[in-house]
Amino acid sequence: MPPAATVGLVPTMGALHVGHLSLIQEAKKECDFVALTIFVNPTQFAPGEDLDSYPKTLAEDLAKAAEEGVDLVWLGESDVLYPPGFSTVVAVPQLADRLCGKSRPHHFGGVCLIVLKLFNLFQPTHAYFGEKDLQQVTIIERMTTDLDLAIQIVRCPLVRESDGLALSSRNVRLNPAEREAALSLSRALMAIKTSWESGERNPQRLSECGVGDLDSRVELEYLEIVDRGSLSTIDTAEIDVEAVVCIAAKVGDVRLIDNIALELS
Ligand code: PAF
Repeated sequence: MPPAATVGLVPTMGALHVGHLSLIQEAKKECDFVALTIFVNPTQFAPGEDLDSYPKTLAEDLAKAAEEGVDLVWLGESDVLYPPGFSTVVAVPQLADRLCGKSRPHHFGGVCLIVLKLFNLFQPTHAYFGEKDLQQVTIIERMTTDLDLAIQIVRCPLVRESDGLALSSRNVRLNPAEREAALSLSRALMAIKTSWESGERNPQRLSECGVGDLDSRVELEYLEIVDRGSLSTIDTAEIDVEAVVCIAAKVGDVRLIDNIALELS
């Protein structure tokens, strides 16, 4: 019997950048059929967030998808996905209450809802998510395990610009001065990593050396060193688990996130 076909799903909100393309490329390597979804999902935005100003570059996205050899591009429509009367919620509370979940309590419920709907629609064997959204991929893995979904969640590494800025669709909304200030997020993470590599193990001192590197135009939401699995803040005197430094901040009107791993060996 021939092996069953593998279907790779790459869910996105469009405004595709090199990070998204790396997900598609990974999916192309592993799967017989690759579906790309583009849908700015309203249920993961709260009123007052950037749903309306989220970048939209559909013509360019379709050209990039074609160039990468995507087999199918699917464009979601809100009124079809969420018709009147829609009322189901999906929640992974223990992972969604921390980090970004503190300021965006609605967000991960909306992400889980659309991702679960996409899983049902496409029945993929594999689904691809970037580690820039570390909390998102961790929550999706939990949901997939808890609901016994036969889908392999593939984590793909965060991709940076050559100057260190983590790629994000929202970067296009930064003006040159804001972009310059935003660079201090990755600089802060690198400073912590350097201190870690030179032997510092105390989470408080590590965090302080990162915060000291932030540009004054950066409005810090959090800088936390968390356990890689549970995403809970490490508050022991010494870090002795696989850890990740996570940061979220606003620069002008643009909310950015980034993270870097602190490996034990
Ligand atoms: O990471 C994103 O772009 C979105 O949160 C996702 C996974 C496509 C769900 O809307």
